[in-house]
Amino acid sequence: MSGTTSAMVRFSDVTKTFVGDNGPFNAVDGVTLDITRGEIFGVIGYSGAGKSTLVRLINALELTSGGTIEVDGRSITGLPEGALREVRAGIGMIFQQFNLLSSRSIAGNISYPLEVARWPKAKRKARVAELLDFVGISDKAKQRPSQLSGGQKQRVGIARALATNPGILLADEATSALDPETTQDVLALLKKVNAELGITVVVITHEMDVVKTICDRVAVMERGKVVELGDVYSVFANPRHPATRRFVEATIKDRPSKDALERLRRRHPHHLITVSVHEDGTSGGRITDVLSANSVQGSIIFGGISEVTERPFGSLTWELVGTPADIARSIETLKGYTRVVDLGTAEHPLADPDAYAPGTETDRPDAQSPSAPLPLDRLAAENAAQIGGIDPGNPNPLGGFRKGNR
Ligand SMILES: Nc1ncnc2c1ncn2[C@@H]1O[C@H](COP(=O)(O)OP(=O)(O)OP(=O)(O)O)[C@@H](O)[C@H]1O
Ligand SMILES: [Mg+2]
Repeated sequence: MSGTTSAMVRFSDVTKTFVGDNGPFNAVDGVTLDITRGEIFGVIGYSGAGKSTLVRLINALELTSGGTIEVDGRSITGLPEGALREVRAGIGMIFQQFNLLSSRSIAGNISYPLEVARWPKAKRKARVAELLDFVGISDKAKQRPSQLSGGQKQRVGIARALATNPGILLADEATSALDPETTQDVLALLKKVNAELGITVVVITHEMDVVKTICDRVAVMERGKVVELGDVYSVFANPRHPATRRFVEATIKDRPSKDALERLRRRHPHHLITVSVHEDGTSGGRITDVLSANSVQGSIIFGGISEVTERPFGSLTWELVGTPADIARSIETLKGYTRVVDLGTAEHPLADPDAYAPGTETDRPDAQSPSAPLPLDRLAAENAAQIGGIDPGNPNPLGGFRKGNR
């Protein structure tokens, strides 16, 4: 990797057209974006949004129908297959289903791309030991994939993807098959890959929780287009697109849903407001000060503050008791500091325009049918291409393929 430009990956008006049941459609539609060298970049969207297609364009498992892609300062659009193999060798990839070779030991799996790249045996052995140690499974070297837990298998996947020192790691739903705790462990490992090895990581996910935990920036995709792009904290604090709002609210759960608000109103008939709490905005203490300065009594009845990219984020719903004038003045003052949603009283209720309503994710009007699973033979060929930098069309990945040592 040359390390000359700040963009590790640059999409310029990229389109990928497939022919579906209803004719041609753009799975990726006019995408322009830069993935910065050394960042953890998230791509989030519902099923069928085009996330996997977008990342598969980076390592040329899919070829663009329009526009150009640069990887590490070099245009990969229109490169011959031989040159694409070189590009792929600088890009590691991990998968939801791990895609390990069941007949090989753990060490054998990690060694595989090194064998393909013709590393000498001693160098391979040392590298495998180093990688096993890095991902924390040195004691599993001789075991088979079937003897490992999902989290351990993904560690093997990561070690294998890192074997030949790539500059980019693509993670397509890498934690989607894991339980929440194991997900956190694997995300911590991806963070370590980024921080200690300086590898640019591209994380594809449909879970905002993943984005919130490790990504620096995020692109939200819908119907092949990037509908929102920004640093993760700002996207959480100020989601503009409806799809982004749904993702954020389904994750943060700091605001009462429509139903929860109805229940709250029964128990708390006075004036309700929801106040956003950000690290640079209103703290709980400041809210209390504003209320008492206006002779309003307030109590917290709903809410939560969690971390987004290691910074505090959330909101609190308060019940306010006081004269309408005092309450109105308090709300005006608070609006000078932060976002305030006025929910009114039980008698004169106001709706939260962004309230999360469970079920809307599946009922959403723009829902697309889930992507069809890839045929097994194609998956196998791609797996081989990924782990060995081999032509996806080559059915015999270990035979006859030459690549210099890296
Ligand atoms: N090789 C292909 N041929 C035809 N259509 C395809 C092909 N690959 C993907 N698609 C279609 O392109 C659209 C985007 O698919 P893609 O796999 O990129 O979505 P995704 O966002 O990764 O979805 P998921 O979250 O389900 O993985 C879908 O409608 C899918 O069916
Ligand atoms: Mg996908």
